[in-house]
Amino acid sequence: MFNLESIVRPNVLKMKPYSSARDEFKGTANVFLDANENNLGSLAGDNYNRYPDPHQNKLKATIASIKGVAPNQIFLGNGSDEAIDLLLRAFCTPGIDALLCLPPTYGMYEVSANLNDVRIDTVQLTPDFQIPVREVMQSIKPETKLLFICSPNNPTGNSIDAASIETLLDNFEGVVVIDEAYIDFAASPSWTTRLEDFPNLVVLQTFSKAWGMAGLRLGMAFGSEELISILDKIKPPYNVNEATQELVLQALDKTEVLKDMVEEIVQERELLMQALPKLNAVEHVYPSEANFILVKVKDANRMYNCLLDKGIVVRNRSSIKGCEGCLRISVGTLEENQKLLGAIAEFN
Ligand SMILES: Cc1ncc(COP(=O)(O)O)c(C=O)c1O
Repeated sequence: MFNLESIVRPNVLKMKPYSSARDEFKGTANVFLDANENNLGSLAGDNYNRYPDPHQNKLKATIASIKGVAPNQIFLGNGSDEAIDLLLRAFCTPGIDALLCLPPTYGMYEVSANLNDVRIDTVQLTPDFQIPVREVMQSIKPETKLLFICSPNNPTGNSIDAASIETLLDNFEGVVVIDEAYIDFAASPSWTTRLEDFPNLVVLQTFSKAWGMAGLRLGMAFGSEELISILDKIKPPYNVNEATQELVLQALDKTEVLKDMVEEIVQERELLMQALPKLNAVEHVYPSEANFILVKVKDANRMYNCLLDKGIVVRNRSSIKGCEGCLRISVGTLEENQKLLGAIAEFN
């Protein structure tokens, strides 16, 4: 049985969060002399001399209605990378606890674990990049507090089988983090629809991919109210800046544009999926539900450099176990994709 209090780090459970000026005074006033801000104004204009809302209430209310969750089931961070780091800090005592992840996958789980001095255990995905569930269950130790599953997975592009994830949610007594950075490009529903079923579930999403706001740095973690309150307690007080809160709030009105962009990217992805296997230098194109495609090519290092010579940068993943000989290629605009296909066609 999952018991939140028994897996939160004891020091985190005990600690009191920082109480900011914005927390301590909530009424209306004209003169704010409580936060050592510059009351003369800001060189950046607007209200930027004031600290932002530490709880991001307006943003959370709107995101909640779009995502169909309650505002207090949402944590907002400086990118979902911040949520990854805070999950480690909330649940894993350095030098004692461990995180389990399933490579080939997103590299920040390992970087954050190393930074926090948290042991990282790994179970390799199967050759078709699915979870070997029994092996994962056998690898879980008493000190395993977090299991990271990326779906659709980066860098492989595929979604992870839902039944495998459900088995792990049912049987793992730690927190299962499902990183859905690429969920907007996938046909499968988000695991946010199952938050009520699994108290040990955390879903990560981001505004960096489909929403096209990587430069603003806004990531989301969804979970039970109790679990999210732990992340809120340990976050830096003003972790989401005012410009980001304002600009994302405006963008949330434009879900029609999001829908159109996602449709176009998925359509371009499908065109690339059809065209790439016809090229001589391409050995295999892996299925993708993301905005990138993993492609096995004849000589990945040479092709990577050859594309670079033509001004095209892709991600060389060929040195990663499980992705030998592979390049990860983001879906671009129609013109960019045509240029890419032309360059690969000329490769020999
Ligand atoms: C799987 C996955 N999770 C998280 C992130 C980080 O996203 P953010 O920009 O929100 O920090 C990325 C970025 O590439 C990613 O691929």
